[in-house]
Amino acid sequence: MRMYDVIKKKRDGKKLTDEEIRWFIDSYVKGEIPDYQVSALLMAIYFQGMDLEETAALTMAVRDSGDRLDFSDVNGIRVDKHSTGGVGDKTSLIVAPIVATLGVKVAKMSGRGLGHTGGTVDKLESIPGFRTDLDKKEFIDVVNKTGIAIVGQSAELAPADKLLYALRDVTATVESMPLIVSSIMGKKLAADDDCIVLDVKTGSGSFMKTVEDSKTLASLMVDIGKKAGKKMLALITDMDRPLGNNIGNTLEVVEAINTLNGNGPKDLTEICIVLAANMLCLAGKGSYEECEAKVKGVIEDKSALKTFAEMVKAQGGDERCIYNTDLFKKAKYSHEVLSREEGYIHSVDTEGYGLSALVLGAGRNTKEDVIDYSAGIILSKKTGDYVLKGDVIATLYSDDLNKFFESENRLIKATTINPEKPVYRPIILGKVE
Ligand code: URA
Repeated sequence: MRMYDVIKKKRDGKKLTDEEIRWFIDSYVKGEIPDYQVSALLMAIYFQGMDLEETAALTMAVRDSGDRLDFSDVNGIRVDKHSTGGVGDKTSLIVAPIVATLGVKVAKMSGRGLGHTGGTVDKLESIPGFRTDLDKKEFIDVVNKTGIAIVGQSAELAPADKLLYALRDVTATVESMPLIVSSIMGKKLAADDDCIVLDVKTGSGSFMKTVEDSKTLASLMVDIGKKAGKKMLALITDMDRPLGNNIGNTLEVVEAINTLNGNGPKDLTEICIVLAANMLCLAGKGSYEECEAKVKGVIEDKSALKTFAEMVKAQGGDERCIYNTDLFKKAKYSHEVLSREEGYIHSVDTEGYGLSALVLGAGRNTKEDVIDYSAGIILSKKTGDYVLKGDVIATLYSDDLNKFFESENRLIKATTINPEKPVYRPIILGKVE
């Protein structure tokens, strides 16, 4: 087989066979195809798309490009939740301990931040001592002991995705439906979970900008997961504004702890209750209403917070921080961003907010960049709020005073204020079963 022919076929809008797709993935992982040819194929896929069969074949080829995990030593039903990525999205830190408290195991592999979006692994590593590099035995022991463990993705899991993602990131081919599906589901299917709940984000802070596209993406992932024998469900949720008020690693962990304490922001609390209830429902723990009541119960009696603290301790972290968030390292400097106009916050470019936090040190520009865990933003005003000129919209945090100028400019530029009250958009926008 020749890569030239595979590229030409897709460029001309023809359907690739299972054999061609597997050959291209296997050869690329072995280092037998250069990046420039793979880049050309990615661009052809971006423009020509792939049908369900091709997308499924690509997903299975990505899944099979490395190790498959075996969680048979984990006692009990296992459920995972995966978000397509957003700004201020700390839901995994909240829903995982909630469902674990209610008897469903969560053996979770998470990613690091990418571009303007944050990553669960970076957030957890802001807890002093927390280890995300457990070996397989430690990982399973922690899951069996506390009901939950969250680690980074091992290099052996779906290596094709690592290679393809890095290439997509620099060739403007991230926002391609079949490429996103195969990236997410390739990794998820290499893990050994019984049920998967997908949180498909939609809006200015996500890779899918419209609800229609997000629904199509969700349906594709649900179909492919079901074909592979998983119980699947997807929620379409809003990412036209950051989730919660805090953006940045330590700040997001603190907001997650507040939410597990029953003091979280309304949007974050609502989405976590719905996600957790759906995870429990899918795992066979009762009707949606029963599961929702159980979720609210373990927030109210603080038992989910206790599970989170147990996981933190079992993974080497300082659990005292969970009960006293003042123990987290604070940023050296803070800076208030004042509104320059009066009116409603009509809309925000959520990606711009993510980049504003990244500039402060909360994310990476290159893989080698070191994160400043205490850097980030606390929003005082969000979409729909009325602001007067001079009102504090947000407070920026960083160890480097010089970062505030660019970060503030990005935040102001990303905020549209006008006299018209925006139409309210709910946080949960759809469900695909
Ligand atoms: N998350 C992934 O893991 N892959 C994508 O392509 C997009 C979001």
